[in-house]
This record gives sequence, C-alpha cells and structure tokens, in this order.
Amino acid sequence: IQQVSFSPQPSLLKPMALSYAQILELLQGQDDEWLFSRAQLATELEFQQQVYLRGIVEFSNHCRNHCHYCGLRSENRQVKRYRLSNEEILSAVNNIATLGLGTVVLQSGDDFSYSCKRISTLISEIKQRHDLAITLSLGDRKHHELENWREAGADRYLLKMETFDRALFARCRPKAHFDERIARLAHLKSLGFQTGSGIIIDLPGMTDAILARDIQYLTELQLDMLACGPFIAHAQTPFATSPNGSALKSHRVSAILRLMNPGANIPATSSLDALEKGTREQALKRGCNVIMPSFTPTQVSGDYSIYPGKNQQQHPAAERLNHVCQLIQNHGLIPSFNRGDSKRVQYVS
Ligand code: 5AD
Repeated sequence: IQQVSFSPQPSLLKPMALSYAQILELLQGQDDEWLFSRAQLATELEFQQQVYLRGIVEFSNHCRNHCHYCGLRSENRQVKRYRLSNEEILSAVNNIATLGLGTVVLQSGDDFSYSCKRISTLISEIKQRHDLAITLSLGDRKHHELENWREAGADRYLLKMETFDRALFARCRPKAHFDERIARLAHLKSLGFQTGSGIIIDLPGMTDAILARDIQYLTELQLDMLACGPFIAHAQTPFATSPNGSALKSHRVSAILRLMNPGANIPATSSLDALEKGTREQALKRGCNVIMPSFTPTQVSGDYSIYPGKNQQQHPAAERLNHVCQLIQNHGLIPSFNRGDSKRVQYVS
C-alpha cells in the first residue's frame, strides 16, 4: 500500500467508529454534553485552536437546476440574475490575496455559460498572480472539464449531495442525477482534488434515520471537506411553507462528523448564522474548523439569495473579514490565514 498525503501534517487522531445505532442516539440529543465536548477536544487537538478562513466569490447566480429548496432555481423569475466578468472575479480574488487569506473559493449556480476554457484561464491567472489555494464549487460539470481545471491548478472541489438518500434526493432535486453525482465525487478524488461534499440538515422529509445514513455515507467516502447546514425555507420555492431546520441538529451533525473524520475540514456554514445569530461561531466549538466570508462584490452579493438571510451584510470586504476574525477571537480561537489543506491521508492500493 502506497501512502499519499496532501499535507505535511497528517491527521493526528484515529477516526471514531460510531455505529448506526450510536449515531441515531446522538442525533436525538441523548448525550449532547459528551458529543460536544469530545468534538471540541478533537478539533482542538487537530487544529490547535486555528480556524481556517476562505474567501468565497459567488460569481454567478444563474442556475439551470430546479432544486425545490434553493432560491436560485431556474424557475424563480423574481431573482435579479448576475454574472461577473473575469476582470470582476479577479478583482475580488485580488482583495482576498491582499488581505492575506490562503484560499479562494469560486462558486456559482450550474451556469454553463462559463466555458471550460474560460474557467481554466481564470484558474491559471489566479495561480500566476497569487499564492492561493483554489477551491471550485461549480456543480455538475463534465469529467474532461474537471480534469482540465485540475491540470490548470485548481486544488479542491466541492460538490454537495444535500442528501445521500435516493428517494429524498429525487423529491428535492427533480431532474438531477443521483448516481452520476456520486460517481463524480469518486472521479474528483481520482484526479487528486481535495474533495468535499455535504448535506442540508432537516430538508423537508428528512428523518433522523436518513440523516444517520447520510453521515455514514459521507464518512465512507473519505472526503477532505464535509459540510452541513440547516435548511431555511425560501419564499419563492416549492418548499416555501416547510419548517426551517434546527441549528442544534446541525451542530450535532458537525460534531459527529468530526469524531468520525478527525482530519477533515468542516465549515461553520453561513446558513447557521442566517437562521440564528451566533450559532455559526458556536459551531466552531462543536466540530467545525473553517469559516468562509463572502468577497462577492456588494452590488450583487444580495442577489446570491439561496436562502433568506444570505449575504445580508453590505459592509466592505475588509470590514466583514475583521468582524469575522473578531468573532473567532471572542471564542478563544485563532483566525488562520494558512492554506489549511485537508489532513486526510489517502491510502492508494
Ligand atoms: N437552506 C439551507 N441551505 C441551502 N442551500 C441551498 N438552499 C438552501 C436552503 N434553502 C445550500 C446547499 C448548497 C449551498 C450553496 O447552500 O447546501 O450546496
């Protein structure tokens, strides 16, 4: 067995092997005190109080998909759609580099008007100008495109399933391809991307049984990045009248994921903050170790309205970053400007 590690510092802790029944009990809150304290300890041992910062540029809110939970679904005619030019994207990336962050995340809806070539040019230009890790979150793109972007220098790719339950996936994401998306995660890993996926907690129809299996599935995939955040109902979607998810449940999930995947990067998602102020920072004490402040230009950032409350701050990027650093420090943690690569050690046989 050949051992390939992304990072000079592999994970320190052994993954905790929790059974389905144990995960289910923890999800139901039967041992929150134990769960949260163990997750906090594991996070501290792995990351020494550091919270990795990623600057995210949400460069297009056009989307060809029909996801029942998402405000950017193509049927929603009430969103003001925007697309940033390469120059505008590079200018936002420049802000991220100037402020000293180590990673840029480029995210959009499934907007295929950005060609493969255009994205790879963007990646090359960023790599020429800056010493930044690049994470892509551009949806279901073709295999050869992903390969091309990896060759151009992209480091990581995020592709959330939102749930690994086939029936629930079909009910939430009409016309999306379940098997192809899962296969794409394996393909991304084989290309050498640090690969991430994730789930939305409390999607309408999600039970604890489904959630427990989702956690097991995410863990079996041996990913570098794991994301979870609570569902928030968006008025202009078919799920408008469904109840919002629970921040506490989302915290339980991040804590369980940390114990089972000690070296993975787990973001404290902005949907926590949109749902209930303070719960995003609280998540940093419950398994999460990453925060992703938005660097999308304020003229358009409010239109990246995936769920209500997203990108509400209209202050300049530097001020927002300052504010996030302050919140991190208030919790006795250290904002980190490192690249913050995954600590997963990949075993290739
Ligand atoms: N509530 C919470 N999270 C959502 N996302 C999309 N719609 C919602 C919603 N209504 C999440 C998905 C997506 C990420 C960008 O936002 O996980 O991948």
